[in-house]
Formats: sequence, C-alpha cells, structure tokens
Amino acid sequence: MSHFHRMDATLFCEGVALDALAATHGTPLYVYSRGEIEQAYSAYRAALAHHDHLICYAVKANSNLAVLDVLARLGAGFDIVSIGELERVLAAGGNPEKVVFSGVCKTREDMRRALQAGIHCFNVESEAELDMLAVVAEESNLVAPISLRVNPDVDARTHPYIATGLKDNKFGIAIGTALSLYRKAAALPGIQPIGIDCHIGSQILNIEPFSEAVAHLVRLVDQLGESGIELKHIDLGGGLGVSYEGETVPAIGDYISALTGPLEAHNLTLILEPGRSIVANAGVLLTRVEYLKPTTHKNFALVDAAMNDLLRPALYGAWQDIVPVTASGNITRCWDIVGPVCETGDFLGKSRDLALRSGDILAVMGAGAYGFAMASNYNSRPRPAEVLIDGDTTHIVRARESLETLWAGESTISGASL
Ligand code: LLP
Repeated sequence: MSHFHRMDATLFCEGVALDALAATHGTPLYVYSRGEIEQAYSAYRAALAHHDHLICYAVKANSNLAVLDVLARLGAGFDIVSIGELERVLAAGGNPEKVVFSGVCKTREDMRRALQAGIHCFNVESEAELDMLAVVAEESNLVAPISLRVNPDVDARTHPYIATGLKDNKFGIAIGTALSLYRKAAALPGIQPIGIDCHIGSQILNIEPFSEAVAHLVRLVDQLGESGIELKHIDLGGGLGVSYEGETVPAIGDYISALTGPLEAHNLTLILEPGRSIVANAGVLLTRVEYLKPTTHKNFALVDAAMNDLLRPALYGAWQDIVPVTASGNITRCWDIVGPVCETGDFLGKSRDLALRSGDILAVMGAGAYGFAMASNYNSRPRPAEVLIDGDTTHIVRARESLETLWAGESTISGASL
C-alpha cells in the first residue's frame, strides 16, 4: 500500500494534503512519508527473518537526519561512503557498530575517524587501501575489521553509470586476485578479515545478476575456508530496483531467497546495503507550474524545480512520473516539464500528457532516493526544503536554504583575510 493516495482528486501523503503543504511551505519541496520508509524496511526484515542478517541502509540515497533517525529506531545499520555520512548517522542516533564503510578512496583521516567510532567493517576496495588501513590501525592501536569488496564481473543490466560490478568499473578487487589479498590481509597486524562484500549496481530489475554474484562469492568463501580464513559475514550490497515507469520489480521474498539459498550450508550473517528500495517511493518533489509556453513545435511547462533539485532525469535520462496534485480541469496536452536552469538538459520529464494551468502544483514521484541527496546550488539556486510526514503531522526536517547560505564561507577580495 502506498502512503501517497488521492482523496477527492487531491494527492495526499499519509494524512496531509499536498496542495496545502505546498501553500504553507513553498516549492520546490521534498516530501517524505515515514510510513512508507517503515513499510519498505519492514519488508526486508520480514523476508530476512529466517536468516541471520544486518540491513545497512545506504545513506547516499537519502541522508536527511530524520530519514536516518526513522531507520535507526527500527534497528537499521548503515552503509556509508564518507565521514560526512558517518557523522550524519551518529548525529541521528545510529549505532556505529552497525556501520559498514564502502567507497573506493577512503583517506587516512576517514579511516582514523571510523576506527575511533568503532564501525562494524571497512569494505576495502584495493591493495593500496588495505596497506594504508593497516598503517592507520597500528598507529591508532586498534584492529580494523575488514571485508574485501570483490568485483565479480557480473553484468547488472542497468544504466552504465550505475553498473559497478564489471571488470571495466573502478570498483572492488578483481575476483581472481581476492584470494591472495585475503591471505595478505590475514597476516597483517591491525587487520582482521571478517567478511566478503560486493555491490554490482543499482536499479537492478532481474534476480539473475544477484544470483551470479552470490555464486561467485560463495565459491571464494569456500576457497578461503580451505586456506584457514573463516569469514563471519557476506555483504551483497544494494541494488534492488523500484518501479518508476511500471517496470516489474522482483518480489522482495524472491530476491532474498535467491541470496539466502546459496548460503544455507554456510554460517554467514547476510549484510545488505539497500538504498533506493527503502526510500525511493517514500518521497515526492513538489513543484509549481510558473508559466506555460506552448510553441508551434513543442509545449513547455516551466516549473520552479530544476536539475539542481532533481538531477536524475538530466544525468541518466531517468523517467519519473509527474502528476498534478489536484486536477486543474484544463484540456490535456503533451508537455515537456522543464526548469529555470540555463541548460537544455534541464528537464524533469518529456512528452507528458497533462492538463495544466499556471499555478498548478505537480508531484514528481519516486523522488525519495537520489533526489535531494544529489541536489546542488547550480545557478545559485537555494536547495529545497524537506518535510517528513508522519500521519497528520508535518515535520520540517530541512529548512529551505536562504540566499545568504549560498555564499557563506566566501568573501570578496577586499573582505578576504590574507
Ligand atoms: N552499496 C554501495 C557500495 C553502493 O555504491 C550503492 C549505490 C548502494 C549500496 C545502494 O544501492 P541501491 O540499493 O540504492 O541501488 N544516483 C544513482 C544511483 C547511484 C547508486 C550508487 N551506489 C541514481 O539516481 O539512479
């Protein structure tokens, strides 16, 4: 059941009408449903009930403190890729012992802070990173729990920018060299191999690539066992897709069974790092139609949200549904929904059949993942406000940026300190 629903032709998030919300808080506005986040997380938890597991929500998908707070209260762990994300998790009340640290280029400072915070595991992506982590751990008089992120050379059949498990990609350690690197890791003081990890990509709509990846990793776990290296967990990353345009998404139970099936003979905790599938459908972006610009060739609806607020359509040609919050009663025409930014790539949607009037509020659906998280200040546009709806209650979880914040930290030449 979606927590976005219509009542008397008006779109609601839980108990709150979105037209009233836009009137009160302005647009562009990100709106999240607490119930939807909880529902998605609970679906993972239920599907994993019979297997020892840790769900580490991928913070990069939506790192608002309130979103992290909702998930931390449910007992979630977190997958982080920067110290900024770690500090967010801690600020939101997340448990560092349930944090895994991914990312191809962790700095010494990142390592030091994460060690000191006592995270669960470093997902190491190269030999050079392993060497550096060993040095930093020894300097800190601590032991770094690690898994190696293995690149299984599996085709996730997704957009090339978000496929990460092919040997052409910068991610992970080639599966052929993983065994010898584990042997080296096991012998390094300051390093304790506890797991194995992979993440093959995002917005994946078939189970087969996951099955292929888990088969590769399980084979490696067996070889490691023969070498006397016993691991405690297997981390299969995130990547499960969502339906943006009516795509068929694997049922969560089928996805989880495909992962846990091959693990039955092994005593391994299953770690997952879902991002999109937890938050995408829990968010919408509200935007106001400022002007209608019909031309002889094309009809443009100019809205107040732009590529700086929601980058996915511009960057990946991603399709997200755009619906009116209330029916305007105008005649339906085919519109390109475009923003104020000075780039031809600045569109939220193309060729959409909609009945529009200026002043209408539109909702871009499926905007809870990689929406605000990828927003920028391009064209000196303050980033939108974010609200989290919980039943009838609206929490303002990020104030709209003021113009002054755009140049905070900058100075003119005459005002600069030398
Ligand atoms: N773990 C690692 C190591 C990752 O790199 C990612 C996503 C995830 C987990 C979470 O994957 P998910 O469950 O969300 O698919 N900006 C793109 C998506 C980039 C994904 C990057 N890595 C988009 O808007 O489609």
